[in-house]
Amino acid sequence: MPEKRSITICPAAEFPPGERRIIDAGDGRSIGVFNVHGKYYALRNLCPHEGAELCRGLVTGMNAETTEVGEYRWTREGEILRCPWHGWEFDILTGRSVFNPNQVRVATYETTVVESFEVGVDEGGMVTVLV
Ligand code: FES
Repeated sequence: MPEKRSITICPAAEFPPGERRIIDAGDGRSIGVFNVHGKYYALRNLCPHEGAELCRGLVTGMNAETTEVGEYRWTREGEILRCPWHGWEFDILTGRSVFNPNQVRVATYETTVVESFEVGVDEGGMVTVLV
């Protein structure tokens, strides 16, 4: 298994909650990095259905059942990614699909925020992803 590489995305100060970056890993993989409520998550930018650029889809939430029959409430706003082609939805935090989480998922990658002492880099470090 090849060793993992670290790819620097940008300073954390320039990557606020609710934003995403799409990066080229340099080996044919495209990866989407998301800031969800202040934490970074990375997913393969390839939908397991028919290969759309999943990470360019709508970031949204989902309906969840309540204890009342037939009642739902909107939840997890900003944590669900909807594929732009046919609407399959994925949990950005885990890569698992909403409709079949144990069998349909997209690859995830570890992210870190690395402190940097480079001139001009603000406090908060650099967002990196391990691929
Ligand atoms: S290609 Fe993503 S849902 Fe069809």
